[in-house]
Amino acid sequence: MCGIVAYVGNKQVTSLLIEGLKRLEYRGYDSAGIAVMRTPEGATMETPGEITMCRSVGRVSVLQSRVEKEPEKYQGSLGIAHTRWATHGKVTEANAHPHIGKTKDGHTITLVHNGTIENYATLRTYLEKRGHTFYGESDTEVLTKLIAELYDGNLERTVQKTLQEITGAYAIAVICDREPHTLVAARKGSPLIIGIAEHAYIVASDQSAIVSHTTQVIHLDDYQVARLCAGPSDRKKTVVGEPWSVDFRTTTLENEEVTQEIQELELDLQEIELAGYEHYMLKEIMQQPDSIRTCLNGRIDKREGRVVLGGLTNLAKELVRARKFILTAQGTAYHAALIGEYLLEELAKIPCECEYASEFRYRNPIIEDGTVVLAVSQSGETSDTLEALREAKDRGATALGVVNVVGSTMSRETDAGVYLRVGPEIGVASTKAFIGQVTVLTMIALFVGRRRFLSKDLVSRYLDELDQVPEFVAQIVKQTDAIKACVEQVVDRDNWLFLGRGYNYPVALEGALKLKEISYIHAEGMPAAEMKHGPIALIDEGMPVVFLATQGSQYDKVISNIEEVKARGGRIIAVATEGDTNIERYTDDGFVFWVPSISEPLQPLLTTVPLQLLAYHAAQLRGLDVDKPRNLAKSVTVE
Ligand code: M6R
Repeated sequence: MCGIVAYVGNKQVTSLLIEGLKRLEYRGYDSAGIAVMRTPEGATMETPGEITMCRSVGRVSVLQSRVEKEPEKYQGSLGIAHTRWATHGKVTEANAHPHIGKTKDGHTITLVHNGTIENYATLRTYLEKRGHTFYGESDTEVLTKLIAELYDGNLERTVQKTLQEITGAYAIAVICDREPHTLVAARKGSPLIIGIAEHAYIVASDQSAIVSHTTQVIHLDDYQVARLCAGPSDRKKTVVGEPWSVDFRTTTLENEEVTQEIQELELDLQEIELAGYEHYMLKEIMQQPDSIRTCLNGRIDKREGRVVLGGLTNLAKELVRARKFILTAQGTAYHAALIGEYLLEELAKIPCECEYASEFRYRNPIIEDGTVVLAVSQSGETSDTLEALREAKDRGATALGVVNVVGSTMSRETDAGVYLRVGPEIGVASTKAFIGQVTVLTMIALFVGRRRFLSKDLVSRYLDELDQVPEFVAQIVKQTDAIKACVEQVVDRDNWLFLGRGYNYPVALEGALKLKEISYIHAEGMPAAEMKHGPIALIDEGMPVVFLATQGSQYDKVISNIEEVKARGGRIIAVATEGDTNIERYTDDGFVFWVPSISEPLQPLLTTVPLQLLAYHAAQLRGLDVDKPRNLAKSVTVE
């Protein structure tokens, strides 16, 4: 939630920061702001700067047009910027970042922040007593003013000191006009990456805002502070564009120097472009065949019936002897984890539980010897999932991660894990990451299952089918126009149900979530049998009810549920197996989306896809912003 980007170096900073904000906008988009350090003509390294700021409610484009009206005001080579997802305080210009504080000697501190400061109320009272006046309600304003209050002429030292007084989560970038070539950044609990470019440093919440400048990065750890300086080699004159000398160091809050390894980003700029698609969500749905191929690449050996997961090899014996798996996640990742539970119990025969991380972390869970906790997350930064993982580790569990973002906090804090390798997911609604998560969980279940009870032949057969999934998904997405035509007929309905059994029950949950989050249609997903225990009362004439009705052990039961809904006037939309002529008796023309035949454990990889397209078209037809649904942010880094 919230994206921050900051730059210090030898280039004009404004357009660069705006470009960074656009890349990070998926993390929050209710307001945006920028602060730039201007240095007077002929300034030397020691001449104080002057900070100019612009903040606006709305998207980054609103900020951009305001900044572009007065370009001369925002000339500088050091700046910070922010795109907000509101936590404390309404969506107003006053609460937008950057925030400002005045030091005792009249200097200006400006700061951007991603996270939440928990003890802000006490600190605010303290600061008010010290004479600070507040213009908004944001916790970040409190942090900024506390830094200003404690400022002792050295920004790095002051930030270290101030953060010792803070409880909560933060990724921050701070500047002070008295130190016009210094950028200080720090983190605890919220992600922050530092890009090391030629003559410059770029700090950002994620790699997407960095990759066009450099692929050399360091990941700050919690409670670490970075001081990044860039200034002209000729210390007597600031000349933007010339080679500049740069210098950085990272320290603990106690000012002990720490060495951070420089890592190479593996992100390709093309992966974060729209590539001709109207929306990232559509691109990410359509490219799922390739995403699955990359996810599987080199990891399955059909002939030998072997799954090769480098990240798990060292732990293989421990996993095989595990007494219990606990899968934990939030949102769409939770639905993938639920499928993981079914897969691990059926294929690896290990008792499993699947639990929302937000519940798990607070309810004193029982972790006994032999417990493996497996966190599933696209971003690897979701606050609840991360804390659940830490809680489990503290209690002695082996911690595994199924994560997409390489180098994310979860990927660094788990004992072992498997990356999704599906590339960056930009659309706020998770699609290809879900398919990647289920693919990886299937491979993990087969990896462990083969070492326990599964025969080589059976694993070979599953792998053979898994290998065909990309081609099957490619066939399914071709139905996009047919799905749109169906949605057109029911998109005005405000209440929908999604029903499935077995492996398709989590798919029903996921279908409902997708529809809710981007089209604002109220939808509920549940086990088909559960409908009779209450929700059936909702069904009235014409209510759309989506059934996952693929061939399998519970097909007849699902058909009975379809009959029950039809008898009450519900409008049946079905996801069914190709060749099933029976299903069309219950549906209107064009209300069946077809998937190729595949074993039940692999069905979610196919049945989810039409539901993604259904949600996409519903949101489109309702004229909504598919990639940036209201109130949401891609990565939920606050509780
Ligand atoms: O990054 P994560 O996978 O941990 O994110 C978990 C959820 O916040 C995420 O799946 C969310 O539910 C998406 N908006 C779903 O489309």
